[in-house]
Amino acid sequence: MEMLQVKNLSKIYGGNVTYRALTDIDFTIRKSEFVGIMGPSGSGKTTLLNMISTIDTPTSGEVLLEGTNPQKLKKKELALFRRRQLGFVFQDFNLLDTLTIGENIVLPLTLDKRSVKEMDEKLQEVAKKLDIVDILPKRTYEVSGGQRQRAAIARAIIHSPALLLADEPTGNLDSKASRNVMETMEAINRNEKTTMMMVTHDALAASYCHRVLFIKDGQLYNELYRGESRQAFFQKIIDTLSLMGGNAHDLSSVRV
Ligand SMILES: Nc1ncnc2c1ncn2[C@@H]1O[C@H](COP(=O)(O)OP(=O)(O)OP(=O)(O)O)[C@@H](O)[C@H]1O
Ligand SMILES: [Mg+2]
Repeated sequence: MEMLQVKNLSKIYGGNVTYRALTDIDFTIRKSEFVGIMGPSGSGKTTLLNMISTIDTPTSGEVLLEGTNPQKLKKKELALFRRRQLGFVFQDFNLLDTLTIGENIVLPLTLDKRSVKEMDEKLQEVAKKLDIVDILPKRTYEVSGGQRQRAAIARAIIHSPALLLADEPTGNLDSKASRNVMETMEAINRNEKTTMMMVTHDALAASYCHRVLFIKDGQLYNELYRGESRQAFFQKIIDTLSLMGGNAHDLSSVRV
């Protein structure tokens, strides 16, 4: 069953100078699949994510989430759809410093006016999964980057979204914290069957996905499936990135 269908998607940014950021992108993501998106800086990865998350609208083509085109929903329905069906994780965590980690995580539920008891049960459950029970009363600046990102993932999945979208979730983390966050995402994907799509520059992070799509100059360039070994997948990703060209920093000397 398809969770996400991207059909002939193109995006041209307007303004003083028009810019074609995406051209005829076509792919589907099945339910409970974990898909990575890679490509050089400026290749259109965030643009693609913004079309899927309904933050921005395509110039042509369409995005279907479980068969529905969210762009066709009315404003209120769209807001509800986004809140119920989607979860977001960003590079810079996007947590509010004035709230505790726990308060940040339940934020999506407070918008839906759930009871305090239900919110607390969900919070404990999700905090256990992400191994952050001890830091729930702390402020965002009192915990590590890796803990902040695990809290952000907790917030993104507390309402059991159909699709989790992540833009560079390991972009601000060192290699140990990155690995930990990726193992967490892998476990959530496996145990909760949450469909995930993750943009990343990091070949190691991408090697945790089932499949990686490569975008170059706004077009699909290649697609790799993981198969048995993550190590071999990692090497294939590195090879594809170097064939594709782009920035040398993408090929940092990470160990598998
Ligand atoms: N709002 C906008 N208006 C005009 N051009 C834009 C806008 N947003 C992005 N672009 C351009 O579209 C292209 C793709 O940008 P995008 O942010 O999708 O790249 P990216 O692949 O996410 O890059 P990075 O890896 O650096 O995050 C870039 O050339 C960018 O300058
Ligand atoms: Mg980007």
